[in-house]
Amino acid sequence: TPYETVLVERKGRTALLTLNRPKALNALNLQVMKEVVGAAEALDRDPEIGCIVLTGSAKAFAAGADIKEMQPQDYVDMYLSDWFTAWDRLGRLRTPTVAAVSGYALGGGCELAMLCDILLAADTAVFGQPEIKLGVIPGIGGSQRLTRAVGKAKAMELCLTGRTMDAGEAERAGLVSRVVPADQLLAEALAVAETVAGMSKPVAMMAKEAVDRAFETTLAEGVRFERRLFHAVFATADQKEGMAAFVDKRPPTFTHR
Ligand code: HXC
Repeated sequence: TPYETVLVERKGRTALLTLNRPKALNALNLQVMKEVVGAAEALDRDPEIGCIVLTGSAKAFAAGADIKEMQPQDYVDMYLSDWFTAWDRLGRLRTPTVAAVSGYALGGGCELAMLCDILLAADTAVFGQPEIKLGVIPGIGGSQRLTRAVGKAKAMELCLTGRTMDAGEAERAGLVSRVVPADQLLAEALAVAETVAGMSKPVAMMAKEAVDRAFETTLAEGVRFERRLFHAVFATADQKEGMAAFVDKRPPTFTHR
């Protein structure tokens, strides 16, 4: 692997990206951003990959953007470099992604998890947007995605006080789909990824697109968009196979076409 701060492993049609900057609790500096986004985009282009899992360490998914790197910057530095902009590309991957969060997911770490499609938490997970305590605000979409995920009440409290949420609160609030014991997190995330990767890739991509569209448009437009995609899946070989397999009472073999 050409990367220093992220480990890349492939297991069949799934890929595992592990943040690997343990001495800084996976703080997201520019190198981490370039490497994670670069690795994820390379996997996204690979037709053999059907799902990408992103995880950190037991102690920290990621403890935020790198405070020491940001400290000396001024407005013009941040503006000219469009600081953090590459992270947006992670949210635009077409391949489904799973965040497996154990330990701290704070600031940019919480935002990184929210850039993924499925969010699974260990019972040790801690989520928050504590930027306000540093005199800044979220910068990788946290004020928007957290609000859409958990609603204004909790998002406002978290962003204004910097308090964190444990895994149980995050699940009740709808930030994560499930909480699992920490020692089972990775196995569970990989199992979910394998399930997704076993589906038709183009159809899974369309399902992802359709759900994502709910955050960008009106209900009427969203339903129209879904209907177009629904009609389109009937042009795939995998729709023929999936329905034939059901009728024949056998498991489907998708060809991702
Ligand atoms: C740089 C960080 C870091 C960070 C931890 N470290 N978080 N370095 N940026 N975000 C480093 C520490 O400096 C320390 O390095 C080492 O990691 C271990 O951290 P400790 O603090 O010693 O560990 P612990 O006491 O267990 O506390 C864990 C923690 C705490 C509660 C997660 O590290 C913490 O509060 N971190 C900052 C969380 C945060 O504010 N995140 C939001 C960042 S702002 P040394 O060298 O001392 O051993 C952000 C903004 C996005 O994400 C947009 C803004 C524009």
